[in-house]
Amino acid sequence: MAGADRISSLPSELKVSILSCLSVKDAIRTSTLARSWRHVWTLLPCLSLGIYEDLLGDTDDTTDIPVKSSWIERVHHLVSSLRGPLLVFELFHCFHFGQSTLLQSLLDLLLKKVGVEKLGLWIQTQVDPVLLYPVVLYLPSFHSLKELSLSGCLIILPTGFLGFNRLTTLNLNEVHISSDDLHSLVHTSNNLTTLVILNIVATEKPLLLNFSLPLLRHLTFGINESVENVSVVCAPCLDQAHIYIWNYTDSKEKLASVALRLVTSAVTVSSLNLDFDVLKFFSLVTLPFNFTFPRLRCLKLHLHIPTSNKRLYSAFFWLLRCMPFLEELKVELESEFSSQTSWVAIPMREFLVKKQGGLSCLDQTLKSVRIRTESLIDVMTSIAVVKFFLVNANVLRLLKIAHWTGSEVMPIMIEDLQKTKVASSDAKVVIHRHGENVTFDVR
Ligand SMILES: *[C@@H]1O[C@H](CO)[C@@H](O)[C@H](O)[C@H]1NC(C)=O
Ligand SMILES: *[C@@H]1O[C@H](CO)[C@@H](O)[C@H](O)[C@H]1NC(C)=O
Ligand SMILES: *[C@@H]1O[C@H](CO)[C@@H](O)[C@H](O)[C@H]1NC(C)=O
Ligand SMILES: *[C@@H]1O[C@H](CO)[C@@H](O)[C@H](O)[C@H]1NC(C)=O
Ligand SMILES: *[C@@H]1O[C@H](CO)[C@@H](O)[C@H](O)[C@H]1NC(C)=O
Ligand SMILES: *[C@@H]1O[C@H](CO)[C@@H](O)[C@H](O)[C@H]1NC(C)=O
Repeated sequence: MAGADRISSLPSELKVSILSCLSVKDAIRTSTLARSWRHVWTLLPCLSLGIYEDLLGDTDDTTDIPVKSSWIERVHHLVSSLRGPLLVFELFHCFHFGQSTLLQSLLDLLLKKVGVEKLGLWIQTQVDPVLLYPVVLYLPSFHSLKELSLSGCLIILPTGFLGFNRLTTLNLNEVHISSDDLHSLVHTSNNLTTLVILNIVATEKPLLLNFSLPLLRHLTFGINESVENVSVVCAPCLDQAHIYIWNYTDSKEKLASVALRLVTSAVTVSSLNLDFDVLKFFSLVTLPFNFTFPRLRCLKLHLHIPTSNKRLYSAFFWLLRCMPFLEELKVELESEFSSQTSWVAIPMREFLVKKQGGLSCLDQTLKSVRIRTESLIDVMTSIAVVKFFLVNANVLRLLKIAHWTGSEVMPIMIEDLQKTKVASSDAKVVIHRHGENVTFDVR
């Protein structure tokens, strides 16, 4: 019993931190341990609830429509029992439109708690042919909130919405919202440093968005057909942008020009990640002549290769030309066809390895090129990309190729690379697979 006494006499902060390591259900169970433990769980400062997280029960029968309210009612009860400040509240669960009121009252209850700093609602709309509407939430203003993540719901800002003046991170994923509400939501939060908007669904007309955020540093934006125009108007601190294009059917040229406008408006960035299909789309539009990113040092690129599309390479060269101070290039190579189509690459080789004019990053700044790919075969079929940098990058120090599957590095490939006339005297090639590096010098 002495041990139990000792545990009982622990200071309450320590007890709370012990409970924080348990699932919510187990934390509540400790109230039966001893008198001194009875109310400790009501001081929990962080709650993460939902499928697999809290073991509150009733969590895996996702087909139980329409009455799925018992779980959310339990959550409601839990939150209203809390006596201490609640700093973090996260909820992951399936809901349907009919449960909007229950969730809304939970949100209103959270608003009454002191000092919620981080709020995350990840809602999966329940699959039901009749009730296939997302949950609708009227977003109240939380004055203490620093981080907000919303997913899978329809958001409406109530009239007189005052925003979140301390918010630094806003993350919206598959949120249904109107253009005006999205604009207000983003711009009532003047202190935003991180903004993530993915797979947005416009509830009325297509989205027109422009960002004027004095402190914004990181922007992630996934463009889809809901977006008509998006650009950075004024974000002097913007340092990193991650853009991709997702779920398109037709109107590719339109999406391409939306993407181009966004990318070329993010002029202050030092790091740019052009993810899935952006470069491919750039090959569909006229790219602005003489455009430059004055601060850009690091480019991450997702590239489909090999392809017989010459315009893709032109878009690639355009990018390099826009980045006269580029130091680091990271390429995620994906082969569009199976390996036996390496013949497609052959006509491209001559075109690719040829030095292009006006690529001053190759002459002066580009030190590192990292190529990541699924299998080494993809590298072999696009060996011209590797050679292009070896032949043309004057100050290159490292060319690293990482691949996950496929064979050992083939001697024939090493031989081929070693025969290449390398521009930089410091260049070294590293091929990385399963935690082992094969390094060889080239000259
Ligand atoms: C938030 O921004 C306001 C100006 O809009 C500023 O006065 C305030 O200090 C900022 N708060 C934080 C926590 O940065
Ligand atoms: C945008 O993306 C979301 C999520 O993938 C999708 O539900 C929505 O239908 C898309 N909008 C359009 C117009 O494609
Ligand atoms: C930015 O968007 C808002 C809201 O849609 C609009 O009122 C404003 O005119 C736009 N500003 C610019 C510079 O396009
Ligand atoms: C897109 O928005 C930007 C900034 O708000 C504006 O300058 C530009 O003219 C718009 N483009 C189109 C095609 O609407
Ligand atoms: C893509 O968008 C269409 C509407 O344009 C939507 O019906 C579909 O569910 C979306 N697909 C994905 C994977 O989001
Ligand atoms: C392109 O940039 C160069 C160097 O800054 C300049 O000399 C030239 O006039 C520009 N051309 C155009 C069409 O703006």
